[in-house]
This record gives sequence, C-alpha cells and structure tokens, in this order.
Amino acid sequence: MCGIIGILGKHEVAPQLVEALRRLEYRGYDSAGIATVNAGVLDRRRAVGKLVNLSDRLVHDPLAGKSGIGHTRWATHGAATETNAHPHRAGKVAVVHNGIVENFRPLREELEADGYAPEGQTDTEVVALLVAREMDRGAAPRDAALSVIDRLEGAFALAFLFDGEEDLMIGARKGSPLAVGHGEGEMFLGSDAIALAPFTNRITYLDEGDRVILTRAGVEILDAEGTRVPRAMARIDVGATQIDKGGFRHFMAKEIAQQPAVLADALAHYVPSDLNMPLDFRAVDRLTLVACGTAHYACHVAKYWFEQIARLPVDIDIASEFRYRDPVLTDRQWAVFVSQSGETADTLAALRHATGRVGKTVAVVNVATSSMAREVDVALPILAGVEVGVASTKAFSCQLLVLLLMALKAAHDRRVIDDATLTARLAEVRTLPGLMNQAMTVADPIAALSDDLAEAQDILFLGRGPIYPLALEGALKLKELSYIHAEGYPSGELKHGPIALIDSHVPVVVLAPRDALFDKTVSNMQEVMARHGRVLLISDAQGLAEAGAGCWRTVRMPDVPDVLAPLVYAVPAQLLAYHTAVAKGTDVDQPRNLAKSVTVE
Ligand code: G6P
Repeated sequence: MCGIIGILGKHEVAPQLVEALRRLEYRGYDSAGIATVNAGVLDRRRAVGKLVNLSDRLVHDPLAGKSGIGHTRWATHGAATETNAHPHRAGKVAVVHNGIVENFRPLREELEADGYAPEGQTDTEVVALLVAREMDRGAAPRDAALSVIDRLEGAFALAFLFDGEEDLMIGARKGSPLAVGHGEGEMFLGSDAIALAPFTNRITYLDEGDRVILTRAGVEILDAEGTRVPRAMARIDVGATQIDKGGFRHFMAKEIAQQPAVLADALAHYVPSDLNMPLDFRAVDRLTLVACGTAHYACHVAKYWFEQIARLPVDIDIASEFRYRDPVLTDRQWAVFVSQSGETADTLAALRHATGRVGKTVAVVNVATSSMAREVDVALPILAGVEVGVASTKAFSCQLLVLLLMALKAAHDRRVIDDATLTARLAEVRTLPGLMNQAMTVADPIAALSDDLAEAQDILFLGRGPIYPLALEGALKLKELSYIHAEGYPSGELKHGPIALIDSHVPVVVLAPRDALFDKTVSNMQEVMARHGRVLLISDAQGLAEAGAGCWRTVRMPDVPDVLAPLVYAVPAQLLAYHTAVAKGTDVDQPRNLAKSVTVE
C-alpha cells in the first residue's frame, strides 16, 4: 500500500517514473506524485486521484531531469488532497514513503516548537521536515537522512532525493518492502520487482532495517546498526512480471478466466505424479491458520478440510486480531500464514508474533520473494502468477488448492487415509482445471442477472459447511466491487437474525451443491421464499431439479466432487460481483478506498 519508485537514470526520468507508478497503482490510487532534480534544482508535481491525473498534469506542466522519485498513495494520515500527496518536500529534500511513522505526533510537536510547521496532515511530511532541519543545521544530505531514519518508529519504506544532488538517493526499509534495481550506469529503488521490471532484471531485496545509499555507480547497503553489509542480487524473470489485460476488459475478468490454467500449473508443481508437499504432519497436534480478507476465507474453507479429511484441529484467525488476543501457542502446533502478497502488515506481524512460539511457521504465498516467504520455516508458493485486480480471485483458488493438498498430506501422514485413498483423492483433485473450465460457462447467465442485482440495496449470501466461507467471500467481493451492502451467512443461522431483513427487494444468493447438507439448505431457502425473498439458487443439475421450482432465478453449475466444491463455487461468487460491478459502472480493478497490498496495520 502506497507504491514507491526511485530512479538515478540516463534519460529523462518522468516518463519512467510514471510507467513504474502505473505498475504500482495496485498499492494505492488516491493520489500520485513525482519529484526530480534537474540542473541541480529539485521540483515536483502532484495530483489527486488516479495516476492518469498526474500524467495529464505532466503533459501541460512537464518535469525535466534524470533523477527522480515517485509515489502512488493509499491515504492513512490525512485526506487524499494535493497537499497530502507525496513527494513531500521541505527545504532541500523530497521524500516518498510507504507505511506509517507511528511516533510522528511527538516529532511534529518537536518540529513545530522549533519553527518547522507542516503544511498537511501526513506523517511523512514530518520526515521531510526533520531532514530539512538537520541540513539547515549543516548536516550533509546522507548524514541528515540516516540520522532521521534512526528516530522513526513504525513501519516504513522511504526514498529521499536532494536539491543540488543529481547522483544521490537514500532509501530505507523497516516493515514495508523495498528493493534495489541494478542497471548499466543507472540505479533504481522500488516497492517491488514488478515496478522495476521494465528497467532491469537484477534486483536486491533489502532486509529489515536496511538503509541504502544509491549513486549511478552502485549501492552501499547499511544494516540497522549502520554497518556496511553485503546483500545478494537476484535475477528475476521479467516475463513473470508482465501486466496486461490480455484482451479482457478488466484485469479481474482475465484473472478469473486464468484460474483453470494457473491451477493446472500449481497441480503440476505439487502433484507431478505423487504428492510433493514438503511438510511432515506426524508430530503436529493443531494448526492455526492466519490471514486477512479473501485469504482468510481460504483459511475458513481449509478448517473444514483439515478437520474432516485429516482429523487435525484447526483454529482460524483474522491476522489483525491474532497477536493482540495473545493466543495460546505451543511447539506441537504449527502456524500457517496465507497471503497473496506476502506483505500484508497484519499477517506479517502475526507471523513475527508466532515465530519461536510454535513448532513451525508456514506461508502459503503468491509472491515468492515477499517478506513472509523469506521469514517462515517453509514457504509454499501458490503459483497464481501476478494478480493485478485489487479483489483477489485466482490467488484465492490457488490458495485453496495448496491448502487442500496440505490437508491430504496431513491425512496421509496421520494415517487417517491410506495410500489407495490418497491416490483416489489426488485423481479427483486433478480434475479441477477441467471443472473450473466448465464453471466458466456460468458467466453468461450471471451477466444476464447483473442488471437486476445492481438495483439491490442489500444482498444476502447463504451456504453451509465448506461452502459457508464461499458465502462470506461472495458477499465480500460484491460489496468491495459494487458497493452494495452484502452479508454472507451460514444458511442455518438465517433464522437467528438476518431473516428479519428479508422482503421482496432483497436478493438471497444460495450457493448449494447437491451434497449431504443440501436438504437442510433447501429448508432454509424455503424460509426465505415464504417471506417473499428473491432466491437465486446456484446448484448442479440435480440440485436445481429438486429445489429450483419457485426460485427467482437459478444458475446451473457442473457436478462437482464434494471436496472440490469450494473451489468451483468460487467462480460464480466472483462472477456475480464482477458483472454486478460492471452493470453499476464502478471501477472493477481499483474499487474506491481499497488497495491490493495493505502494508499498514
Ligand atoms: C486486501 C485486498 C484483498 C486481500 C487482502 C489480503 O484487503 O484488497 O483482496 O484478500 O488484502 O491480502 P494478502 O496479500 O495478504 O492476501
């Protein structure tokens, strides 16, 4: 959340900064800005709203220079105004920041008492003012920035640029990601490799607490104690960081459609023939699954799987609650962190809390170079490829697949299932890409419903058993994309409250494969229909034949083995949100107020 780019380049840098910000826009899009040094003079341009506003501004009011920093913002402190947009400038320094400086209030009071008054409300401006004050007192830019970094508490990635210095950039990372890119006579800083991919494939990922001093000749890296340290350089696969819509109208549409293919990739990795899962569950008594948002709902499904298939007890936690409730953790327990980005601040903090308190930490993660992937004992890649749409889709289904394979491994290790059963289960799992393909055919019937759904004020989603978390996910997706109030409920809980909401205006989406709980769900559905609720039943042919009569609408799904239903029913949940948002005309890929990677607590 918030994207940072810095370039000491050979060419005019403004277009490169904007290109990098375009690739970082998934991290926030409330406002954007760039600063450059040209003929020794530091200057900046900022604009509120999407990046396109900044690039339009630069057409009329260009910014020259070969050294620059840029930022795309997701507001934390202070509204999305131009004054609060980055880069922040004070005296001879400009800074861009991702994260939160938690001690900014006492620092601001100290500055104000000293005659250094901020213009806006951000924590970041305080950083710029502190450096400016050090430079006013005679400190060199490098010393000024490094001494201020020492005083900052909280989580941050920072990049500083200085008036009069065309060949100097200072960066720092603590709690928020930052990477160095190595070019030929050029150097780069960026929040991630995706931002740097157009410029270089040689990347150094910084460690916690690192500070960097960049010149075109190279980089000097200091650890938190100020000691010069070597850090490895990796070559990234630039092809893997390609971001384009591939002919689709939105990234989300492309990513939903990619699910059969990426699941097949993940299957090829984890089940080349036998199950290839580098975990031995024989000495573990309990799992704790921790995540945020959509990834948390993947954990919710997985709880059913681990308990039903492997008889292994599972706690699930929302990451932001985990460490503050001071959970009981033992070394017979493992903690599993599920995250697309591997950078979500709450999940990362939960991981750090669990480290040393549990037998093993495991990450189920998409970005293989992320902080979580690097800090856990075992990182399991989900292999979904770059996910750009803010609402997670293909990462969700790949998380589910890896969690299901973990549950199968646990069941086998714990002798709950024998070799033959494991083989049979894996054969079932291999049918997944084909089933997901078949599920894609619901796109047209769902699109045909979307005008009606777009009119609704409230929508309820119901499910039972491992499909209940899909009801939660369907409601989350719908509200984040279409801004329609939606709630997911276990079908049986409807009568304990939400049934009071039912009238002829409230669509009730029932996700119900014809499984062992189907009859129970249908009873709950009848309770809705008896109160004139409009039921949209999403089920297979048999389910619709048995219970479709009297429903407002029905959508027919393929027949699915019970264990795969949560994966396959993700498709209609995603498509309902997508088409309703398209019908409402909201911004599908970048919904208001959200960001893809939330690196603040
Ligand atoms: C944000 C995104 C969600 C995502 C959640 C967790 O809220 O908008 O789509 O599920 O973060 O992100 P993670 O990267 O940890 O999976």
